[in-house]
Amino acid sequence: MVRLIQAALAAQDAEREKLAYEVHDRIAQSLVTIFQQLQLVEVMTEALPDVHRAVVRCSSLTRQVTREVRHIIHDLYPPGLAEMGLKALLADDLRHMANETGCQVVLDTPLQRRLRQETELVIYRIFREALTNVQRHAQAQQVRVSLQLTAQEVCLEVQDDGTGFDLSAQESRRIGGLRSMHRRAELAGGHCRIESAPRRGTTVVVRLPYVAD
Ligand SMILES: Nc1ncnc2c1ncn2[C@@H]1O[C@H](COP(=O)(O)OP(=O)(O)O)[C@@H](O)[C@H]1O
Ligand SMILES: [Mg+2]
Repeated sequence: MVRLIQAALAAQDAEREKLAYEVHDRIAQSLVTIFQQLQLVEVMTEALPDVHRAVVRCSSLTRQVTREVRHIIHDLYPPGLAEMGLKALLADDLRHMANETGCQVVLDTPLQRRLRQETELVIYRIFREALTNVQRHAQAQQVRVSLQLTAQEVCLEVQDDGTGFDLSAQESRRIGGLRSMHRRAELAGGHCRIESAPRRGTTVVVRLPYVAD
């Protein structure tokens, strides 16, 4: 049964990876070009206030849509994971979050080496889900992310100082982001623990077995 679920998840991952690359190559890159062109037009239309205002609106909307598309790509599959590695991608996403929300972000990791690709992908997916939840629900001032490696395991912690929530009200839910974090960690042979209470912030802790190559 576990094998079947793992095979289904692997097939889903492959499909998501394909889709992420298509959205990246066909949409995201064009949006960046449109934004650059609009910025040029902004400068060229400074003497025409009505046109200028409309162009500024268009470029700010384009910037917003580019961010949304970037979130979609990263939720589908991180195109940079294979090249950049987990640590650089976590830092990049946190930097974007800080720019978008003004939230203070801290990344604490001594990690110098790459982990196996499956491990990096599971950790990254759980990190994305946790970070999306912080952005959507927490109204946090600060997010701390820690990624540590011991001889036997890799441990990710995502901690926010936001609104928190009543965990017991979520426990019976069979689907959703929290459930998928537990499921992904368990299928990789590890586990996920979530601590939260109203007005006390939320901490997601994931531990996966680590096997040195
Ligand atoms: N970091 C967080 N801060 C505050 N509330 C949270 C946080 N993470 C999750 N929640 C609460 O738990 C609920 C369930 O989360 P999740 O399963 O990811 O579903 P969704 O994000 O689609 O609502 C959220 O709707 C929210 O009320
Ligand atoms: Mg969620």
